[in-house]
Amino acid sequence: MSDLSLYFDYASATPLDPKSLRVMLPYLSDDFYNPSAIYLKAINVKKAINNARAIVAKNLGCQLGEVIFTAGGTEANNLAISGVMQQYPNNNLLISSIEHDSVLLTANNYNYQTIPVNNKGIVLLDSIERLINDQTVLISVMLANNEIGSIQPIKQLAEIVTKIRQQRRINGNNNPLILHTDACQAVNYLDVSVKRLGVDLLTINSGKIYGPKQTGALYIKGGVVLSPLIYGGGQEKSLRSGTENASNIIGFANSLQIVRDKAKNETKRLSELRDYLINRLISEFNSIEVNGPKGSHRLANNVHITIKGTDNERLLMELDELGIMVATGSACSASKDEPSHVLKAIGKDNEDIFSSIRITMGRYTDMPAIDQLVNSLKQILAKN
Ligand SMILES: Cc1ncc(COP(=O)(O)O)c(C=O)c1O
Repeated sequence: MSDLSLYFDYASATPLDPKSLRVMLPYLSDDFYNPSAIYLKAINVKKAINNARAIVAKNLGCQLGEVIFTAGGTEANNLAISGVMQQYPNNNLLISSIEHDSVLLTANNYNYQTIPVNNKGIVLLDSIERLINDQTVLISVMLANNEIGSIQPIKQLAEIVTKIRQQRRINGNNNPLILHTDACQAVNYLDVSVKRLGVDLLTINSGKIYGPKQTGALYIKGGVVLSPLIYGGGQEKSLRSGTENASNIIGFANSLQIVRDKAKNETKRLSELRDYLINRLISEFNSIEVNGPKGSHRLANNVHITIKGTDNERLLMELDELGIMVATGSACSASKDEPSHVLKAIGKDNEDIFSSIRITMGRYTDMPAIDQLVNSLKQILAKN
């Protein structure tokens, strides 16, 4: 693998773990069979997919039948939102104001309201009572934000949902209230046990956990009924038809197991590097503002800053020339000129938004790389 020490964009893509590549390769060559066929070699592919499903289920703390493989986080989020809302077309949903576009733009097709966040990017749970009504059937709040790394209080949200359900039973309201969380950015570092979180639907994404891209899964709690997005041969319990991408699914499960095994150590190591970087930035530059929360409310690998008076795209290119890869505030989607809705939601104005960069760390980030990043920033800013 090429030298990744100066790569600081792990929130948008992680390199494929070589161990996962190794377990994928047979399914890209000799074991090409369609897992739905009924001869032995095909049955073995089916078994390997179900073994991958068992690994995912074990790591989420759920049943085998509650895991549906999808072509990535975007598709899983679309399936969660549209899957519920197509069952209840006359009802409504709540989402937080900082969701990924795959939730936000899907919710746009239905009747939705947004739950605001505070200036650190944490959802204001108090506002739920004001926003929810008897027709609300779904709440979608991400576990951790992809831009500013803010970790959301999903357990507390689940407790509120439980109380509302109890109240609805007393009042004779038969509408369900389903809780979805997008955990794409959380899996490397946070607890993703669906029981401990108390969620009904949970999205995970292989491309952010050192697995192959265009692969992910949706946890669907037993009893929750969704409409499919894709119709066809009935694979994945008819919720995601199409011949399974066996190699990717197998690589995904392998990468998931590895990141979960490393989660505790990596969280400690990276949060120390994160705080070292933040402290160095604050002491070196007086024009810097750190966006998002501090300490344990922030993803271990995320640093997001506004450098007043700079143009983030120009800065990004100047860093790139020095071999350093970071993202602008609106990264994680294909390039677009719109100011980030996440930074707007925490109260940033357009000028600040276009002076912001996201630095996300991962498996190959170390202290010398952080020092090199800070020194390069110093060099560029001194010139401008
Ligand atoms: C929080 C979050 N949700 C969903 C996605 C969508 O993932 P993908 O583009 O791999 O489908 C991403 C990544 O871009 C993300 O960061």
